[in-house]
Amino acid sequence: MAERVIIGSDHGGFKLKCEIIKHLREQGFEVCDKGCYSEESCDYPVIAKSVAKDVLNTSGRAILVCGTGIGMSIAANRFDGIRASHCTDTFSARMTRMHNDSNILCLGERITGTGLALDIVDIWLKTDFEGGRHKNRIDMI
Ligand code: RB5
Repeated sequence: MAERVIIGSDHGGFKLKCEIIKHLREQGFEVCDKGCYSEESCDYPVIAKSVAKDVLNTSGRAILVCGTGIGMSIAANRFDGIRASHCTDTFSARMTRMHNDSNILCLGERITGTGLALDIVDIWLKTDFEGGRHKNRIDMI
């Protein structure tokens, strides 16, 4: 069965989200798009909430895109059990999976170019959590 990835954006992240969806579907992922569905202005907290709830209900993983990636990460991290990581480089993407068991990756369309963003997505999706002492620390949050 194809691995499911949940994805969402506001208008500021819509174009990059479309590139990510295409990239993931080409690799055989099942991508569940929670909106938005056009570049019409909308509110990122609404999308972040919908995606965070789906991640918690399915023990899944998600990608959120807005203009900077920051609003989405602030909004998603309000939900207990969500560990949303705003990444602008591949090292952080790898480390936030290994050490933080990040379950939502946040990206900024106005910050990170498409090529780098797709590399960040690939590394974030393929890197496993190390567990051990890092699990103890997550339990303290
Ligand atoms: C929308 O203009 C912009 O504020 C939003 O995409 C995001 O960057 C907020 O953090």
